[in-house]
Amino acid sequence: MKRILVVDDAELNRELLRDMLKEEYIVEMAADGEEALDKLKLYSASLSAVLLDLQMPKKDGFSVVIEMKRDGWLRHIPVLVISGEFAVEVENQCFELGVSDFIRKPFVDSIVRKRVRNAIELFSSKNQLEQKVEEQEQIIKIQEERKREEKSFNRLMMEYKAAIMGVETRLKVLNEEFSQEYNRNPFESIKSRLKSPASIYEKLERRGFPVSVESIRENLTDVAGLRVICSFPDDIYRLADLLIKQDNIILLRRKDYIKNPKPNGYRSLHLIVDVPIFLSHEKKYMKVEVQLRTIAMDFWASLEHKLKYKKNVDKTGAIEARLKACADSIEALDYQMQEIRDQIDSEGSGHGL
Ligand code: GTP
Ligand code: MG
Repeated sequence: MKRILVVDDAELNRELLRDMLKEEYIVEMAADGEEALDKLKLYSASLSAVLLDLQMPKKDGFSVVIEMKRDGWLRHIPVLVISGEFAVEVENQCFELGVSDFIRKPFVDSIVRKRVRNAIELFSSKNQLEQKVEEQEQIIKIQEERKREEKSFNRLMMEYKAAIMGVETRLKVLNEEFSQEYNRNPFESIKSRLKSPASIYEKLERRGFPVSVESIRENLTDVAGLRVICSFPDDIYRLADLLIKQDNIILLRRKDYIKNPKPNGYRSLHLIVDVPIFLSHEKKYMKVEVQLRTIAMDFWASLEHKLKYKKNVDKTGAIEARLKACADSIEALDYQMQEIRDQIDSEGSGHGL
């Protein structure tokens, strides 16, 4: 049952109205304006209507309406003024303040009930409509925000892609030059990848960084990744040095896991570089991670990578131990191959560095 509040200083009026309305509503009562406001605070959201006398001690009906308006209640709860007042200006003033209806004393049972019902129905449809509009606006806002975020995320990915292309081109140019000048290629192949949105998200969360385009730019260094596969260890260093020496490339971090392999045996040279990309209206620096390794190191790393993502494999560490042994053999093999190459180069004739 809906709850309504009847406010009148005359007990007789309150009783009369309660008798008229008690079958349809839970009828709360207040004997003056102050009590009315207390009850409003108490029941606020659950009140469906207020029937309000104008002339009352302590606080009159006008003041109650003014406070209800100020506190936003008038938008959600219809107020029906009950008054013996016949002056049109008073009625006018009430409507101007925002009351829903004006019922004159003496009360006619059927009319009071209909007017209260009408006012409640009207307000409830109005409230529902307002709520729907508000929800709709909220949805639109969220959708727009998502679209904006998606757009700036895609833009960022485009920029990283441009940075990958830039570094890849620099490396390929070096390869071309070496191939022509010295008849050898410092690298065998280049692989590149943009970190997937899922792993970008996962890494930001794992490291406690905010998930936003700005945060990706600031906190991640491996969104743009290049893997350069060389034949021999010395090619790695030569290529890395030539790249870093170029204009417009800033070395941010260098991790030499070849000289200092990881305990599991992982070996590679990692460079984090800042490179400019040239867009229609700006030049921007982007971070790129370049991993350089030999064919054999790469072979090892792909197998070891598989192990990382497999669950419940080898609880005793036997596979790790075998992989570590392979890494050691690979290291020896890489240098032996390099020595043989050097020997061929120095003994042979025709070409070579
Ligand atoms: P990540 O959070 O994994 O990027 O590590 P990090 O920021 O400490 O940088 P690190 O230079 O150690 O590793 C960068 C990347 O190198 C990794 O994302 C892998 O692609 C590769 N890498 C590093 N350690 C290993 C390893 O032990 N095994 C394999 N297979 N790859 C590795
Ligand atoms: Mg990484």
